[in-house]
Amino acid sequence: MAAGLEEGLTYSNPTALVVGGFSVQRAHLQHVEGISKVCTDGYRSTYKESHSKEYIDRINNEFYNFDRISKEITEPGDGWDGWFVALENNEVVGAIGGGMFDQNKGEIYVLYLDPNRRDEGIGTLLLDAFTKVQKEKGATEQWVSVAKGNQKGIPFYEARGFVFHNEQDSFANNHDEQFISNRYRRKV
Ligand SMILES: CC(C)(COP(=O)(O)OP(=O)(O)OC[C@H]1O[C@@H](n2cnc3c(N)ncnc32)[C@H](O)[C@@H]1OP(=O)(O)O)[C@@H](O)C(=O)NCCC(=O)NCCS
Repeated sequence: MAAGLEEGLTYSNPTALVVGGFSVQRAHLQHVEGISKVCTDGYRSTYKESHSKEYIDRINNEFYNFDRISKEITEPGDGWDGWFVALENNEVVGAIGGGMFDQNKGEIYVLYLDPNRRDEGIGTLLLDAFTKVQKEKGATEQWVSVAKGNQKGIPFYEARGFVFHNEQDSFANNHDEQFISNRYRRKV
């Protein structure tokens, strides 16, 4: 766990943590535009070689639009723990979100960075902070789905202790699409 994450950021006390030049905190409405940008840019950069432009635009429009992200910030509920952001000079450089899908099982639904800011430790900071939130909610296992073959994501999760569990059809497939997701899990 990165230095400094032991104190401060809990589900009930989501104050910002400052680690290196970055702070990680629960997202507020002023972060919606930044979250949308890192997710749409990150998604495009991750999948531009494996997925069509139409597929990428469809996912980005459906999941990373302002209205949806705003609601996900203001109305966290069962199965959704809210968005958390990594900030540098008040700019969003990365975002993570997920929720509990069972009493002791947390899921990471989304984790993206500004694509030019990979491999600086920002993903680890977000993952550590979000894991702390999920552990406080009772998680002893954490799960994530990653597109099969995503070499910009899978090595990161493996380096953080996630182990391959099974393959399944990607949930966003249309009737004529056959993309596969890999499910990974780890103990937390
Ligand atoms: C996945 C992602 C969020 C990780 O964030 P990051 O800031 O780049 O990652 P960090 O710098 O914190 O850590 C990288 C770790 O992964 C490891 N890693 C990364 N790429 C690796 C590779 N190709 N092979 C082996 N290890 C790799 C690094 O060794 C490092 O571990 P270490 O610190 O123990 O050496 C980021 O790279 C990203 O946005 N990827 C594209 C989007 C994506 O795939 N998101 C997940 C979708 S579910």
